[in-house]
Amino acid sequence: MSIIFEEGKKTFTLHTKGSTYQMQVDRFGFLLHLYYGRRTEGCMDYLLTFADRGFSGNPYAAGQDRTYSMDVLPQELPCQGTGDYRSPAVVVKNADGSYGCDLRYRGYRILEGKYGIPGLPAVYGSEEEAQTLEIDLEDEASGVQVTLLYGVLLQLDIITRSARIINGGSGKIYLEKAQAACLDWVSGDYDLISFYGRHAMERIVQRTAAAHGAQVIGSRRGTSSHQYNPMMILAQRETTEDAGSCYAMSFVYSGGFKGEVERDQYHQTRALLGLSDELFSYPLEQGEVFHIPEVALSYSSRGLARLSQNLHICFRTRLCRGKYRDCPRPVLLNSWEASYFDFDGESIYRLAQQAAELGMDMLVLDDGWFGKRDDDNSGLGDWYVNEEKLGVSLSSLIKRINGLGLKFGIWFEPEAVNEDSDLYREHPDWAFSVPGRDPVRARNQLVLDFSRKEVVDYVFERMCHVLDQGNIEYVKWDMNRSLADCYSRQTADQGRVQYDYVLGLYDFLERLLRRYPDLLLEGCSGGGGRFDAGMLYYAPQIWCSDNSDALDRVSIQYGTSFGYPVSAVGAHVSAVPNHQTGRITPLSTRAVVAMAGTFGYELDPKKLSEEEKQAIREQIRQYKRYELLIRNGLYYRLSDPLSQEMGAWEFLAEDGTEALVSVVMLEVHGNMTVNYVRLKGLPEGCLYREEESGVVYASDALMETGVPLPVEMGEYHTYQMHFQKV
Ligand code: GLA
Repeated sequence: MSIIFEEGKKTFTLHTKGSTYQMQVDRFGFLLHLYYGRRTEGCMDYLLTFADRGFSGNPYAAGQDRTYSMDVLPQELPCQGTGDYRSPAVVVKNADGSYGCDLRYRGYRILEGKYGIPGLPAVYGSEEEAQTLEIDLEDEASGVQVTLLYGVLLQLDIITRSARIINGGSGKIYLEKAQAACLDWVSGDYDLISFYGRHAMERIVQRTAAAHGAQVIGSRRGTSSHQYNPMMILAQRETTEDAGSCYAMSFVYSGGFKGEVERDQYHQTRALLGLSDELFSYPLEQGEVFHIPEVALSYSSRGLARLSQNLHICFRTRLCRGKYRDCPRPVLLNSWEASYFDFDGESIYRLAQQAAELGMDMLVLDDGWFGKRDDDNSGLGDWYVNEEKLGVSLSSLIKRINGLGLKFGIWFEPEAVNEDSDLYREHPDWAFSVPGRDPVRARNQLVLDFSRKEVVDYVFERMCHVLDQGNIEYVKWDMNRSLADCYSRQTADQGRVQYDYVLGLYDFLERLLRRYPDLLLEGCSGGGGRFDAGMLYYAPQIWCSDNSDALDRVSIQYGTSFGYPVSAVGAHVSAVPNHQTGRITPLSTRAVVAMAGTFGYELDPKKLSEEEKQAIREQIRQYKRYELLIRNGLYYRLSDPLSQEMGAWEFLAEDGTEALVSVVMLEVHGNMTVNYVRLKGLPEGCLYREEESGVVYASDALMETGVPLPVEMGEYHTYQMHFQKV
């Protein structure tokens, strides 16, 4: 049993394999947080301390007791208005215009299986795998009811948190802030590890000390964004990849978010993650329900590698869905960097022919096949096949490509519209814009108001019409700008629009998958602008970055690996000089980097030499050989590419029988020092044979000292070593 309620002390204890989470209903009915950390037994209410703290107010119910203050106590769902002056998780504006929410305990339920959330993505787990704890809280004065949801996945070391808020009062209220998870630590020095970036340079790792004052990451872009990823790690100061305590908080949501870490006046640390509260003011009429998207939590007492692996396994197996969750993804050739907008049916067919000759599985026709779309200034919204440009119908093109033994995939950007499109001319009010103001343009396009059902219905219908024209097995779902001007003509409550937009997006994706259950979706937003756990519920892979430069990808994929499985990382081999950086890297290096993801190519094979083509055939064979190990193996970061001369990572079979180590040299210097790559996670006292060299190594020595890498002239060499247990 992973959820235990102890009646005497009124504690709720959640156990996973390696962690324990505990909370307590106190004498006033507040739900206090007691503990989250390595697995343990017993009641931790001795961690609560009480003292008369100046300027920290006391709840009325405490009477003359000035030692009791919400400003100091660790809580499950801190609300504005209780005398806690730290950052709250929930802010309610009541029907009478007052602010405040004072939630007290009402009851609980323990259910078998993991809860789901209507209209929102969520981790899932069967009755054998997971339990759900629901805790009811209520604000007596307003009638607001909150049900906290905890999903406990024992074997996966994952606890999820979400909440249902019901307006149980009589007037209309507004939620002004809604965050799903709060972690309060009464002691300890923590670092915040966060992932910042920009278009074409996403998820750069940053580690900073949690300091007095709040440190805030987030997105006000309506998408989870390139700039900050909705995932944070809190690590004790001394925690490393291989040792120490650390906590992950990953928001299972694809819109605006806010993550806050604050060290308070008593050196306690609070971390919050949930919806962005900017431009957010969600109306709830009497009886209406609001669902806060969930946060997945994990704890590791054994360093960051283990923490990441917990998330990898959970997201890969209990968040991703569909046929492709467990089966190999097609090695694809994407037309974008091969031909951009400049193609016709014949040239696409020739690309497909080359892809087939090289041993690939699928041809993806990227942007440019619909409406009037010869550059990125027009056509979005007009999801009609441009047969004139193609010179052939889509169905016959697909048939010819299928005839080569290849699957066919296609690109869409359903949420966007160009002003120069028939759709916009017909329905200008479907695009977000504020009446009387010029909208903000980005990539010369606007965003459709997906908070309106009729808009979603229309685009869905158009998309199905295209998908029904042939055997389309893959869709790349793109989104190439940040939201702005989020004014919806449908509602008077503009503070609901961004959240409703995301619900509209999820509704579309859900309908799509219901209608085409075997469709492989690849998420994309100018590369990795919506690389989040929410999207993984619909799209098991996401184009990781528009930057396909192998060297930059080492850093981007390194950052991504902290929170997301390799099976989710869209990665392709592209041409040199690279189209984003102008850098020239060896073909072998590009392949090794792309093999740390869902492998594919994004170049024009016509421009390759025979020798290169031969190399590509070999790369694909190699990838397919290791595909299972790459997809399902335990992923270890073996170096920090932001500070070291090499990027190195390892895939280890869960049973330890084999390991694949990949290395990319990032720098070259005169009189170079030797780099050693040290393996991780191997069982002790075993022998491993490296396949290519035939050398047999002791596992302990591999982990202690490692293997010396050759010192070679030239830039960006790569090494791939496959170790098999003897
Ligand atoms: C975005 C994507 C690219 C490509 C283009 C097409 O930038 O990230 O991969 O699909 O759009 O316009």
